[in-house]
Amino acid sequence: MKLAKYLKPYRLFAIISPLLMIGEVMGDLSLPFLMRYIVDYGIAENGLFELVKAGGFPYEVMNFLYGAGNYSQLSIIITFGVMMLLIVLVGGFFGTLCAYTAAKAAQGFGHDLRCDAYKRVMSLSIEQTDKFTTGSLVTRMTNDISMLVEFVEMVLRMCVRSPMFLIGGTIMLISLNVKFGVVLLCSLPLLLVTLILVLSKSVPLYSVVQKRLDKVNSVVQENVSGARVVKAYVREDYEIERFMSANGGLKDINLKVLRLMAIITPVLTIIQNFAIIAIILIGGIDISSGIGGMTVGNVMAGITYVTQVIMSIMMVTMMFQSISRAIASGKRVIEVMETEPTIKGADKSGEEGDIAVTFENVSFRYPGTCGRPVLHDINLEIRRGETLAIIGSTGCGKTSLVSLIPRFYDATEGAVTVDGVNVKDYDLTALRSKISFVMQKSELFSDTVANNIRWGKTDASDEEIKEAARVAQASDFIEHLPDGYDSYIAEKGASLSGGQKQRLSIARGVVRHPEILIFDDATSALDLATEAKLRRSLNEKMKDTTVIMIAQRIASVKEADRIAVIEDGTIKHCAPHDVLMRECETYRDIYASQMKKGGDIGE
Ligand code: UTP
Ligand code: MG
Repeated sequence: MKLAKYLKPYRLFAIISPLLMIGEVMGDLSLPFLMRYIVDYGIAENGLFELVKAGGFPYEVMNFLYGAGNYSQLSIIITFGVMMLLIVLVGGFFGTLCAYTAAKAAQGFGHDLRCDAYKRVMSLSIEQTDKFTTGSLVTRMTNDISMLVEFVEMVLRMCVRSPMFLIGGTIMLISLNVKFGVVLLCSLPLLLVTLILVLSKSVPLYSVVQKRLDKVNSVVQENVSGARVVKAYVREDYEIERFMSANGGLKDINLKVLRLMAIITPVLTIIQNFAIIAIILIGGIDISSGIGGMTVGNVMAGITYVTQVIMSIMMVTMMFQSISRAIASGKRVIEVMETEPTIKGADKSGEEGDIAVTFENVSFRYPGTCGRPVLHDINLEIRRGETLAIIGSTGCGKTSLVSLIPRFYDATEGAVTVDGVNVKDYDLTALRSKISFVMQKSELFSDTVANNIRWGKTDASDEEIKEAARVAQASDFIEHLPDGYDSYIAEKGASLSGGQKQRLSIARGVVRHPEILIFDDATSALDLATEAKLRRSLNEKMKDTTVIMIAQRIASVKEADRIAVIEDGTIKHCAPHDVLMRECETYRDIYASQMKKGGDIGE
């Protein structure tokens, strides 16, 4: 299997484990024989006489320990009893070590696999993550990998145990009495038919189980992260219903599998008991008619061996079950591992020049969609240090346009360049570290205020952080928080207001002193006065930074060096405010509509 390489660093444990198991199984297999000696020679009448008559290993042992004829039946019981005890202890010791090494190998395997899978997930492009869905990725990273770990552990422990019990047990049984072997031979076909029937039906169901689990995870994930909306629209009942249906689906399929599996145990027990009865019967008849050295001890050992063999078949079944689960899960994990990130960096990096960003005949459509492209015929040159504003109605493609700069998506046609180099030829880290992108929706992390800002630049000093907060007009409210910069922010910034979140996100973008600063509607929740202050301090502190600013309000864009008006997925006009007012009707319309609302367009 493709995932086997993850076991390689742990191969020592993976090899030792089955070897240790051999020790345990040998011990287990020898116990019934020793018990037979105790019964036949230690307990039965004429035991001593039988021992001498039978000769062989037990006779040799007694003679070696006590000298010929120098022992009683009690000493036989004690000798072999102690031997059994020692074997159990040693076997147990081997067994424990085997379990430990198997666990060590399996957990190491799981740990490494999970690391790599996670790295892969992180490298996937936005489009690919969306395709897998978050719920499914979470299941694949957790549950599916756990299944694989369980499987590896199982195989390491059972790959030796079951066949050894099966073969060893059969040989021992036949060496006790050939007729016992016949009993086993008769019960095997029955057993196999049942197992094959059950497994062939249950195995295909495992991939369905995992899919339903995906669904449950997706629903939980969506609702927990969207808890506020769910509550605001009083949709709890509906969402609980949705969860119930996903959960019910999971239960149904699990029950279906378990119902099938439930057949195995009773059938196995019945067959086992019949085999035991057959052995007692054969043994009993032979003993009473005194045929061919059948003894009570033989019958007892026979019963134990038959049980061991049948149990080992049971274990093989469990292994099959585990294999089929592992195959289903393995496929899902491999699917993630083999997804090549569609957006992959190259090795170039551009030098700062006069022109920061260009769009050349760019058209763009979201991957997997068809119809009219979201953007078309985009030609734009953005000079270094310039402030370019982008305005346009909702859904006209503003976010899509700026997403092409840090390569969240690739342009369908045409080229986007940063510092004269096509973004597709950039080293991704080099490209993205030139850019700060303040998103339309502020994403904050559950950490302190300072650390959230530091996200933009990991080695930022406290002073740099305070400076960034001042530029972003965030320092006032931060200083009013109970612990200032050390105040803890709840998950996703839930403890802050919309405008506060936006200002923190801006500070995070500013702290890095990027070459290109992109605000995607990032000032929408600020009042005009604060926004104006922000603009002024940006102009002051970050003169060389190229700012691309998407906004809905004329007041926000008015002072920009140029304003690009986007309509129907293309740039209609790109000029300063005054020129646009004269020449661009769309712009005038926007201006007029915002004036009419009584907005204070100037300040
Ligand atoms: P944008 O997200 O670029 O629009 O989507 P916008 O101009 O920024 O809009 P606002 O102002 O933030 O609201 C442009 C088009 O691309 C489609 C949308 O349907 C929209 O019509 N789109 C967007 C996709 O097909 N897939 C996406 O992942 C995002
Ligand atoms: Mg947008």
